[in-house]
Amino acid sequence: MQTVRIGIAGFGTVGSAVFRHLQREAGLLFERCGVRLVVTAVAVRNPRRARCVPLPRSLLVGNPAQIAASDRTDIVVELMGGCTTARELILSALRHGKPVVTANKALLAEHGRRIFDESNRRGVPIFFEASVAGGIPIIKSLREGLVANRFRLIYGIVNGTCNYILTRMSQEGAAFDDMLKQAQALGYAEADPSFDIDGVDAAHKATVLASLAYGGCVDFRQVHVEGIRHVSGADVEFAHQLGYEIKLLAIIRSLDASRVEVRVHPTLIPKANRLASIGGVTNALVVRGDVVGDIEFSGPGAGGDATASAVLGDIVQAAAHLARSRETRACCDPSTATPWLCARGPRVVDIASVVSRFYLRLSVADRPGVMAQITSILGKARIGISSIIQPEGHQGKAVPLIFMIHDARHDAMFQAMERIRRLGCVKARPVMFRVETFES
Ligand code: HSE
Repeated sequence: MQTVRIGIAGFGTVGSAVFRHLQREAGLLFERCGVRLVVTAVAVRNPRRARCVPLPRSLLVGNPAQIAASDRTDIVVELMGGCTTARELILSALRHGKPVVTANKALLAEHGRRIFDESNRRGVPIFFEASVAGGIPIIKSLREGLVANRFRLIYGIVNGTCNYILTRMSQEGAAFDDMLKQAQALGYAEADPSFDIDGVDAAHKATVLASLAYGGCVDFRQVHVEGIRHVSGADVEFAHQLGYEIKLLAIIRSLDASRVEVRVHPTLIPKANRLASIGGVTNALVVRGDVVGDIEFSGPGAGGDATASAVLGDIVQAAAHLARSRETRACCDPSTATPWLCARGPRVVDIASVVSRFYLRLSVADRPGVMAQITSILGKARIGISSIIQPEGHQGKAVPLIFMIHDARHDAMFQAMERIRRLGCVKARPVMFRVETFES
């Protein structure tokens, strides 16, 4: 009987859930993978802190680096987050020949090339299922089940915190700040919640997905990112009137063999779209493969247990890999090897050249000629209007004016918006969101 010894770095929401399930389900996991999984070291930031999940003192190590170097560990599980210490720990583990499991999307998005390069040079695998969409096995699906497909489009809800906030705003008219506090209390939000609400966490996940789908490390810095801070209750309400929901989406669209759109922003989607009804912390992704067609994934995208489920799957796979490679050195398996992730990735096109429909909300003076001024700017820019709302019964000097815009290039929209913003009749910064229908 083989035993694989596990070192865990990080004992927060996810680390403690992984530890608890490993203890509780040791028998089941042994039955399923034929390897005994034993935790032999846990690195915690503060050894004196009281914990909900009891942690034997004999397992504690103060410095995460010890986990990679220790002769008491075979696999390193990195659940600390952050980029500096985590990067050193992972590189050190790979240099020591220890398979790595990580949930660290920020690290993979920003330093993926270095890490995958080390993993491939050493022939030591790294597993990262938990880095995208919590408990949904999207990484394994792209790498294994869907390996024969070319991916034309991947889009989805990949940040639970934002979806939680937007759902409660949509269903109850709840206030943004209160909902963010609740998401933090429930353990969904990142240590720095601005990563969630400013779209950075979703952009990290989109980068990992785009790299996997298109074979090569996509440059995170080229990904267009907008968060949900400027989504107001009024926009949610107008979107409803027009037949849409507002969701923070990650959108990855292949344009040709070398160019891809990767963007994260609030998006109006028709209520009939399968993602419109995805509520709360649930994540959901639609993958359009040339062989399979559209395939949908949904499930819990954040929280300790959901993420632990993905980490545990990776631990089992890493342990099976290790057990196999102890018997035979042969290993070239698309589910563990990542040579294509070291290659130069496709070019992420500038947002300026992306074409989409738009929702535009202006706050304007209620006087004759205002509509003509605005439509004249749009007309000169050859931007077509598909519908307009000016609600009755508004109060005050400024009134809302809502435009739905036909397909337009982003640079044309940005320029037109700048001209509109400078009009004397426009009383506040225009609000503009993309509208997507994802028709094939
Ligand atoms: N903060 C993330 C979210 C969870 O809200 O989806 C882990 O990625």
